[in-house]
Amino acid sequence: MNNLDDQFEEFVKNLQKEIDEEESKIFSKRVIELSHSPKNWGKMENPTVEDKFLGPCGDTMQFFLKINEKDNVIMKITFITDGCGPSVASGSQLTIKAENKSIEEASKIRPNDILKVLEGLPSSHTHCPVLAVNTLDKVLKKYLESKK
Ligand code: FES
Repeated sequence: MNNLDDQFEEFVKNLQKEIDEEESKIFSKRVIELSHSPKNWGKMENPTVEDKFLGPCGDTMQFFLKINEKDNVIMKITFITDGCGPSVASGSQLTIKAENKSIEEASKIRPNDILKVLEGLPSSHTHCPVLAVNTLDKVLKKYLESKK
C-alpha cells in the first residue's frame, strides 16, 4: 500500500472512532448494538401475515410473521424499516419480545416496554418505538381479521 492509502485508511479509522464516540454520548449500548447488527432483520418467505405502516416522521416499518394458527403463537417474526438507527433498534427489540408469544401477549407490548429495554432514547427519537408497536398492532389486527 502506498503512503496515500495509509493516510486515507488512518483518516477513515479516526473518523469512525469520532462517530462512535459521538453516538455513545447520545444512545445506549443496546441501541447502538441493535441498530448496527439488528436481530430478526429481513423479509420472510411465505409469512402467515405481513404489513407495512407509515409513521408520521415519513419512515416505514414492515413486519413478517409466521404464526402457528392452532394456538395463535408467533413462531417467527422479522422486520425491515427505511427509518433511522433507533427505529432499527426498536423494531429489532420488538421482534425479540414478540417471538414465541401469543397474539394476545404480543398485542400488549407497548412503546414504553421497548424504551425501557433500550434504556431510553433522546426526545427526538421517542416516536421510533411507537412506529414499531403501531406497525405490529396493524399486522396483528390484519391477522385476526383474516381469521373471522
Ligand atoms: Fe422516523 Fe426514527 S426518525 S422512525
